[in-house]
Amino acid sequence: MKITVVGTGYVGLVTGACLADMGNHVVCLDVDERKIRVLNEGGIPIHEPGLDVVVKRNVAAGRLQFTTDVAASVAHGTLQFIAVGTPPDEDGSADLQYVLAAARNIGRLATDYKLVIDKSTVPVGTADKVQAAIDDELGKRGLDLAFSVASNPEFLKEGAAVEDFMRPDRIVVGVSDERAANLLRAIYAPFQRTRDKLVVMDLRSAELTKYAANAMLATRISFMNELALLAEKMGADIELVRQGIGSDPRIGYHFLYAGCGYGGSCFPKDVKALIRTASDQGQDLKVLQAVEDANDHQKTVLTRKVLARFGQDLSGRRFALWGLAFKPNTDDMREATSRVVIDELLARGATVTAYDPVATEEAKRIFGDEPRITYAQGPMEALEGAEALLIITEWKEFRSPDFDRLKTALKQPVVFDGRNLYEPALMRDFGIEYHAIGRSVRAQAALA
Ligand SMILES: NC(=O)c1ccc[n+]([C@@H]2O[C@H](COP(=O)([O-])OP(=O)(O)OC[C@H]3O[C@@H](n4cnc5c(N)ncnc54)[C@H](O)[C@@H]3O)[C@@H](O)[C@H]2O)c1
Repeated sequence: MKITVVGTGYVGLVTGACLADMGNHVVCLDVDERKIRVLNEGGIPIHEPGLDVVVKRNVAAGRLQFTTDVAASVAHGTLQFIAVGTPPDEDGSADLQYVLAAARNIGRLATDYKLVIDKSTVPVGTADKVQAAIDDELGKRGLDLAFSVASNPEFLKEGAAVEDFMRPDRIVVGVSDERAANLLRAIYAPFQRTRDKLVVMDLRSAELTKYAANAMLATRISFMNELALLAEKMGADIELVRQGIGSDPRIGYHFLYAGCGYGGSCFPKDVKALIRTASDQGQDLKVLQAVEDANDHQKTVLTRKVLARFGQDLSGRRFALWGLAFKPNTDDMREATSRVVIDELLARGATVTAYDPVATEEAKRIFGDEPRITYAQGPMEALEGAEALLIITEWKEFRSPDFDRLKTALKQPVVFDGRNLYEPALMRDFGIEYHAIGRSVRAQAALA
């Protein structure tokens, strides 16, 4: 099938590449000329495991193309996926300008039937706005062209995006007509050969499903983070509590890890947007507001521990940071906890040496030539002469470091672990002062 994907970011590029991999002919459009140039020169503008292989394979086969040419992209696809960004507006609502601009382009230039599919995360009612924008543009041209609008929220996880797209848990599609439903069934048939994963529903329910999923996951994280802070006060160990509750199938183990707050391009903005959608309807989402407040607080948990340990004035002290990305296996730093931590350390007079396996370039783009931040080539190099280590992202390579080397490289063997990577008792035995999230040596010791 002929498919256009509008927006070639984390979602658009993965969607385009994976759909091409199933034999479709895909054109990916972006307004960002640099991104399209990089792709046309054989590069990949983002870090996403396995994506380069799929992209290269399909470019070579002539099934995947990249362009900034709007007219050509509208002409190409019978299916037009919209996967542009929906960043938060100042009031927390999702900014729909990019989605609606993409819709208008389709209305302005289409000459035959189009199925327009919102893949971006958009508030309930957006499909109606997309429909109205296209109608409006067609009206200006005096055309009465058949088209359908569908909602197909994306559930992929950065860092495992290709795998998630190729082997989805479920594929949610919101439709208002049978033609759209049939086209989407056909497109997604290759991705669900073991069982039917398509959940077909109306447009509004599909739009709300995406927010409900992210809001639920964010809630679990904030819940555990608050409980971790309580566990610290009570001398309990959140890791034991996690195992104790996760074994209940009604609760499950996923998304129950305490840490230094969630970030990324989705949870923070989607939680905000859902709160805003509800308040526009005169409803307070009290639970979700608390989830957001708890997360804002949690992003400062590490620096609060640093200040408690080293005092309020950190002038002349340099700290090592492991991890800049908002989570492992991505270079994405949108809303990353590292940004909050670095800002606070710098504001208190400290300097920072950071190491991240893939996000250094992104950090340089964000922090510019800030002289108080330096970037190390490896984890151990970041530690040399630093006051203490702060761990922000749970990259695999941080899980089993050489603790003896770590101890000697740091000025003082102090570790603030925002991802609970190590056993407190082991750290004690190595002679490392270990500050984690909700962990307790005492609770662990009782088991021995
Ligand atoms: N990143 C994720 O993990 C993820 C997961 C599920 C859903 N989503 C949702 O998918 C959407 C896209 O997210 P993303 O992370 O891929 O964003 P992104 O910022 O990586 O990519 C968006 C791209 O759209 C392009 N763009 C903007 N306006 C355009 C236009 N009019 N025409 C063509 N291109 C245009 C931008 O230049 C950018 O390259 C968001 O709504 C997001 O909430 C993201």
